[in-house]
Amino acid sequence: MTMAFLPRMIFMILIQFFILHTASASSWQTLSGKPPVVVARGGFSGMFPYSSKDAYELVKLITPGVTLWCDLQLTKDGVGICFPSLNLDNASDVKNILPNNKEWFSSDFTWKQLFNVSLVQNINSRTEIFDVNDPIWTIEEVANRGASSLWLNIQDSAFYAQHNLSMRNTVVSLSKRIKFNFISSPEISFLQSMKNSVKPRVTKLIFKFLDQDQIDPFTNKSYGSLAKNLSYIRTFSSGILVPKSYIWPVSSDHYLRPHTSLVTDAHKEGLQVFASEFANDFLIPYNYSYDPTAEYLSFIDNGNFSVDGFLSDFPVTPYRAISCFSHLDKKKATDDANITIISNNGASGDFPDCTDLAYQRAAIDGADILDCNVQMSKDEIPFCLSSIDLLNSTNVFETSFRNLSSRVSEIQQKVGIYTFSLTMSQIQTLKPVISNPFRGYDLYRNPRNKNIGKFLTLSEFLFLPKRYSSLSGLLIKVENAAFLAEHQGISVVDAVLEELKRATELQGISVVGAVLDELKKATSQESHRNATSILIQSTDKSVLMKFKEKKKMNHDDLVYRVDEDISDVTDSAIKDIKDVAGSIVISKKSVYPSYTSRDGFVKLKTDVVPRLQSNGLRVFVETFHNEFTTQQFDFYADPTVEIHSFVLDIKIDGIITDFPATTTRYRKNHCYRKLDLVPTGVLITLPNLVHLGPAEAPYPTLVDADVIEPPLTEVISQIPASAPGKAEAKAIEVPFAFIAMAILVSFFISVY
Ligand SMILES: *[C@@H]1O[C@H](CO)[C@@H](O)[C@H](O)[C@H]1NC(C)=O
Ligand SMILES: *[C@@H]1O[C@H](CO)[C@@H](O)[C@H](O)[C@H]1NC(C)=O
Ligand SMILES: *[C@@H]1O[C@H](CO)[C@@H](O)[C@H](O)[C@H]1NC(C)=O
Ligand SMILES: *[C@@H]1O[C@H](CO)[C@@H](O)[C@H](O)[C@H]1NC(C)=O
Ligand SMILES: *[C@@H]1O[C@H](CO)[C@@H](O)[C@H](O)[C@H]1NC(C)=O
Ligand SMILES: *[C@@H]1O[C@H](CO)[C@@H](O)[C@H](O)[C@H]1NC(C)=O
Ligand SMILES: *[C@@H]1O[C@H](CO)[C@@H](O)[C@H](O)[C@H]1NC(C)=O
Ligand SMILES: *[C@@H]1O[C@H](CO)[C@@H](O)[C@H](O)[C@H]1NC(C)=O
Ligand SMILES: *[C@@H]1O[C@H](CO)[C@@H](O)[C@H](O)[C@H]1NC(C)=O
Ligand SMILES: *[C@@H]1O[C@H](CO)[C@@H](O)[C@H](O)[C@H]1NC(C)=O
Ligand SMILES: *[C@@H]1O[C@H](CO)[C@@H](O)[C@H](O)[C@H]1NC(C)=O
Repeated sequence: MTMAFLPRMIFMILIQFFILHTASASSWQTLSGKPPVVVARGGFSGMFPYSSKDAYELVKLITPGVTLWCDLQLTKDGVGICFPSLNLDNASDVKNILPNNKEWFSSDFTWKQLFNVSLVQNINSRTEIFDVNDPIWTIEEVANRGASSLWLNIQDSAFYAQHNLSMRNTVVSLSKRIKFNFISSPEISFLQSMKNSVKPRVTKLIFKFLDQDQIDPFTNKSYGSLAKNLSYIRTFSSGILVPKSYIWPVSSDHYLRPHTSLVTDAHKEGLQVFASEFANDFLIPYNYSYDPTAEYLSFIDNGNFSVDGFLSDFPVTPYRAISCFSHLDKKKATDDANITIISNNGASGDFPDCTDLAYQRAAIDGADILDCNVQMSKDEIPFCLSSIDLLNSTNVFETSFRNLSSRVSEIQQKVGIYTFSLTMSQIQTLKPVISNPFRGYDLYRNPRNKNIGKFLTLSEFLFLPKRYSSLSGLLIKVENAAFLAEHQGISVVDAVLEELKRATELQGISVVGAVLDELKKATSQESHRNATSILIQSTDKSVLMKFKEKKKMNHDDLVYRVDEDISDVTDSAIKDIKDVAGSIVISKKSVYPSYTSRDGFVKLKTDVVPRLQSNGLRVFVETFHNEFTTQQFDFYADPTVEIHSFVLDIKIDGIITDFPATTTRYRKNHCYRKLDLVPTGVLITLPNLVHLGPAEAPYPTLVDADVIEPPLTEVISQIPASAPGKAEAKAIEVPFAFIAMAILVSFFISVY
């Protein structure tokens, strides 16, 4: 019934984590000036059942030095066990093992009676795959397995007293054999009774705050009001443990409000402050853009204060936030990770797809390359939008254009309202709508940004490098070209080339005269480092061929996108791709395939990336999101852990992301070479395969037939010489920056 020894051995062999050197002590605004501590609530309870052997072992293996948390409960015969609640029904299979009871309080059973009871996950949204592997552990078992530091939480001493069981006596007697670094309780009387029984240098007594409006029975005051009486708290404890909203309050619509002064006030009293309720799979305020590391950093690296520790269900994330991602601005990055960051419809995790605001955010958040998915309006103006179907990212359904819906089976089965049915000026009256790809999990993106921003024409998009000098390139995505040519008489390829040419000419106008010298400088080495390239991407090889043939586009600037998950790629398919493109876009699952699509465990990684790279292709991988439902379990619901594996283990060339800030911060981290990789494909060896069901069939291999497409129909109709609109006129006024010039001029030279 207990977990087999073998898998743990695999764990041991595959993972050799070493303790990370944290940022120098002096930079911390904790009470002691030392780095904050991480406390693993019930072990790594985000993955394995709370307080299970596996949950504790995983902590010791991947985050050495992290404190193990045990909620101490007592059995009828006074044995101390680690279990999340008084009621054993909550996180174990006790109901099945001892069915002849009405209640299952630990105090109703002797330790021996619990022999066959196993732990199960007590949070519904977490995987049950690891259920019923491990028995309940006593605190002594947890301690004897070599915890570097222990935190004992005594939640209900009063309840046990009613059952004639003394928590105080139990803890005092255990303390003779076991070193407890922290003992916490929400019960003031318990802490007071312990005060003279522990050595303050060895064991810190911590007052655990419950919800703000809950009443503390001892003082008959709310916990919220006790937080304002810290000098009183100081009389019986040396620190406090508070739900995180005591420090960063949250509005009813889930945004952060300004922080309170609790940490500073408590530090003035000499009290340490620990914050609780952290988990990568909890809903966090929208301000963090679903990035759990950002949340931790706001508690330790905000310039004003730092908490002294975190209580977390996913200790790997705070551990790395502390060791690798704090105080990034104060230290010079010596060894940045080498990865290109490409936006996905701009920073579409924070703003509606392809709006000016989404692009602005992406540029500010450190994207190297901004992307424009080109769509065509009825009057054949190319513009940027994530989907050819306006229903997908605008409010068109709420407008009078609703009547323009049509069914186009070449594009999709359902009815759509297509960009080519509305003129550009009509499209510009529509409101953008933020994408919500994980609506199905109730994970919505920043609601306050839901409908803000304006759509950009391709010509406006081409001017973005002028505004954001950190950009190194623009990626123009061209899809549905065959359909548009055949059925709408529109050549999107010609339209894109025309815009590129026009943009170059417009820039040319401002080049004449006074700025000629600067143009010369622009070709000098200094600005050459920033030289921006224009990349063209398509899933259709014939589109890329056309760009190449028509205008001698640089081979390296053409990007072929594979639009399905693949497990392998044939040599001849690689050759076909190489004929036309220098880079390739593949899905995350083509790198780390899932065992089953439902469960999200990684099977053995594929060889797709090394095969493509050894054939000289640059490999970009899509699409990285912050939402925890998008990372496979092997990455512990942590987008940064996922990125790390793709960068360091697979060595991909580029990351395509809705949230460029997460990868940008990763790229600056202090210790990415020291950070160990999480072993992928190992978790799958742990669970009861019964729960998991059979593995899914492998994804298909990419073969020539997938790559080869019939050549594009030549469109006879003229491209209307669209007069420069307001947009272009405005763009010309943007102050001259020769970086954009360099791109467009060099483009002009090479193409025309
Ligand atoms: C166990 O207790 C927690 C916390 O009180 C609660 O959220 C959860 O729903 C309970 N789970 C079960 C299975 O009763
Ligand atoms: C545990 O299960 C075994 C096998 O079913 C049974 O023989 C034993 O009596 C059980 N022990 C307890 C304490 O229930
Ligand atoms: C606790 O002990 C008292 C006195 O020894 C006894 O009267 C009472 O019934 C006991 N309560 C329980 C719940 O065992
Ligand atoms: C607790 O305080 C409330 C008012 O704050 C009062 O009404 C109540 O009687 C008090 N209860 C006890 C047991 O002191
Ligand atoms: C702090 O709490 C203690 C104990 O309840 C009480 O005696 C004291 O008046 C409180 N002080 C303040 C400022 O509320
Ligand atoms: C959180 O985001 C909201 C909305 O953008 C903003 O008003 C608020 O100031 C932010 N909170 C903090 C603490 O930055
Ligand atoms: C730090 O505190 C000062 C004054 O209390 C405040 O003005 C400032 O906004 C705070 N900064 C942060 C990052 O919270
Ligand atoms: C529109 O969005 C839906 C849901 O995300 C997606 O399945 C569909 O492919 C999209 N349609 C187009 C044409 O992009
Ligand atoms: C759809 O509605 C618009 C605006 O009300 C109108 O101009 C147009 O003629 C209508 N088109 C169709 C096909 O009904
Ligand atoms: C090149 O980019 C850097 C930022 O990445 C910027 O500071 C610098 O001004 C740019 N140089 C030119 C010539 O635009
Ligand atoms: C970064 O990676 C690219 C290929 O993706 C390589 O050409 C370049 O030399 C690398 N730079 C560094 C500093 O490692």
